Amino acid sequence: MNYNKKSIEDIEVAGKRVLCRCDFNVPTKEGKITSDKRIVAALPTIEYLIAHKAKVILCSHMGKPKGEWKPELSLKIVAQRLSQLLGQEVIMASDVAGEDAKAKAAALEEGQVMLLENTRYIKGETKNDPELSKALADLADIFVNDAFGTAHRAHSSTAGVADYLPAVSGYLVQKEVSIMGKALANPERPFVAILGGAKVSDKLNVINNLLEKVDTLIIGGGMAYTFLAAQGYSVGKSLVDNEKLDYCKEMMAKAQAKGVNLLLPVDTAIAASFPSPIDAEIPVDYVDCTAIPVDQMGLDIGPKAAEAFAAAAKTAKTVVWNGPMGVFENPTLAKGTIAVAQALADSDATTIVGGGDSAAACEQLGFADRITHISTGGGASLEFLEGLELPGIACLQDK
Ligand code: 3PG
Repeated sequence: MNYNKKSIEDIEVAGKRVLCRCDFNVPTKEGKITSDKRIVAALPTIEYLIAHKAKVILCSHMGKPKGEWKPELSLKIVAQRLSQLLGQEVIMASDVAGEDAKAKAAALEEGQVMLLENTRYIKGETKNDPELSKALADLADIFVNDAFGTAHRAHSSTAGVADYLPAVSGYLVQKEVSIMGKALANPERPFVAILGGAKVSDKLNVINNLLEKVDTLIIGGGMAYTFLAAQGYSVGKSLVDNEKLDYCKEMMAKAQAKGVNLLLPVDTAIAASFPSPIDAEIPVDYVDCTAIPVDQMGLDIGPKAAEAFAAAAKTAKTVVWNGPMGVFENPTLAKGTIAVAQALADSDATTIVGGGDSAAACEQLGFADRITHISTGGGASLEFLEGLELPGIACLQDK
């Protein structure tokens, strides 16, 4: 995939209506935004457009309303927060590309900002319906995609609209693509990838693709037990994806053939059962992965594994991390994930954390400032690591 895309700096925006797709899919609780990280991440592009006299029409989805007009998924709260952050009014449209949006877009003055309603209020959005793509395009003269978190979706507002308008990237998309693209295409070595998460099946293509690129691949989290089982160890009641045992063997053989150092945990935190509720205090023991009792399950990496993983991260020049090392929602079982986050924070390497749980862990621990790049994309950053073409980026004009 060609990542060398035109950006907002490569196109004249003054006096033009610019439709800018952002990922304002922010977490909310009781009608309040609980993290405005994605709104803040979109500010450089929006501020550039304002400063360069564009008429700015922002759009985004929130949640999965599936074509229903669910008031709790309205972007009004985003408009309020964005208006505070920008220090200027953000005009809220009461529809997506309907009469109100059209009238407000037509009346926009240079430097003014408006926000359309949740694009997924319209059924056609997730179907990449050309009718919606065209209606969105009719609001504007230029399309800017700055929604990296949604770049893996081929939807009307993320990709379809680019069929009708000159389409370029915003600063956030540019930053995400250049940092992660460089790490994958031309990394400073040693290049270490750390993968975690519960299921092997979620990371099949990521593992396969990274084995082509890294010097060391570290596997922790729930999926490590399937790899250990594939090596012939008894892993007790640990989560094992029996259908993926052959896949794991294949990946281990591939690592060996390519000279990639594949690191699995040498020890593990064990307990009699999965904590319920997830953050319940439970008694935990630590054993070597060769000695997991039949009536116990592994729920986090152990201290020896944490030390080995941290040592690999510290000597690396590039580290990519995606997925927690254990049940990190539980304080007793978060130690492995914390140790990896700490190792990345302490490392001089270029450190890149894929979105989702590992990004949340770095932020909650206060390490975010010490990580080179924390992606705003969950699914998008995973697909990026898989080497897949992201439709929201592929649709933009090449430089
Ligand atoms: C995300 O939160 O990862 C993005 O906003 C994409 O959301 P989606 O998974 O609902 O498409």
